[in-house]
Amino acid sequence: MSLPANPATPGRVIFIGAGPGSADLITLRGARALGQAQVVLFDALTDPSLRDFAPQALWLDVGKRGFTAATAQARINALLVQHAASGAVVARLKGGDPSIFGRLEEELQALAEAGIASEVIPGVTAALAAAAATQRPLTRRGQGRSLALSTAMTAELELRASQRADTEVFYMAGRQLADLSRRLQDAGWAGDTPVNVVSRAGWPDQLMSDHCVSTLPAACVMHAGRPAVVTVGVGAAPVCRLLAAPTATAVEGHPASAAFPP
Ligand SMILES: C[S@@+](CC[C@H](N)C(=O)[O-])C[C@H]1O[C@@H](n2cnc3c(N)ncnc32)[C@H](O)[C@@H]1O
Repeated sequence: MSLPANPATPGRVIFIGAGPGSADLITLRGARALGQAQVVLFDALTDPSLRDFAPQALWLDVGKRGFTAATAQARINALLVQHAASGAVVARLKGGDPSIFGRLEEELQALAEAGIASEVIPGVTAALAAAAATQRPLTRRGQGRSLALSTAMTAELELRASQRADTEVFYMAGRQLADLSRRLQDAGWAGDTPVNVVSRAGWPDQLMSDHCVSTLPAACVMHAGRPAVVTVGVGAAPVCRLLAAPTATAVEGHPASAAFPP
């Protein structure tokens, strides 16, 4: 397919947060920007039905599965520069929010070095979709004053845990939940600290499970092969459990209990 670009007008790149799941979690601004795009470079975890917002565009799958991360990233940077330099309005569609574990900095830098204008439109990050799905506020008045978003995986692909806030949400630990349990305890989290795991948050088939730090390995089977976030600390507990004297009726009636398998 030939590119619909016009080299006479300067191209630009709009980074768009697609949200973590179903297409209706994209922002209105993001959907409108997609409608202006001539080329869309999209990630693996974005909803295919987002194509309906940009049927006019050339859609290029730049999901990194099957490539080494370094090769894929260099190729993505080159494609962004190449298409924008040819005059196209390029949408760079990223899962969740582009600024959260999305290697946005590398793509911004490649564009800046090439003198290409860019814009970033935020999206709903997976931690927020999980909190909404489970009705577990990530901050709690008087109990949870701080929130950390952490990747459990270092750039060298080592699993690492930390204890940086009252509530900490770990990304990219889905394949190593058993190891994460041990590392969380090494980092100082007590074994009975509440932990909540949500996989495919925001999708119709989202799943959640409750654990504590020491029993987290039990989550491996339910969430196997699915993108998941692991919330640890105050924000992982059901709201009812935090009330001074929760009643059995209130706990049973909790919407999250009804919406998900136990
Ligand atoms: C490369 S990071 C991208 C994060 C994304 N930029 C965001 O803001 O959500 C990929 C990780 O995000 C998490 N993730 C992405 N989508 C998810 C979803 N729908 N449900 C749960 N976790 C998700 C998983 O931890 C996955 O390994």
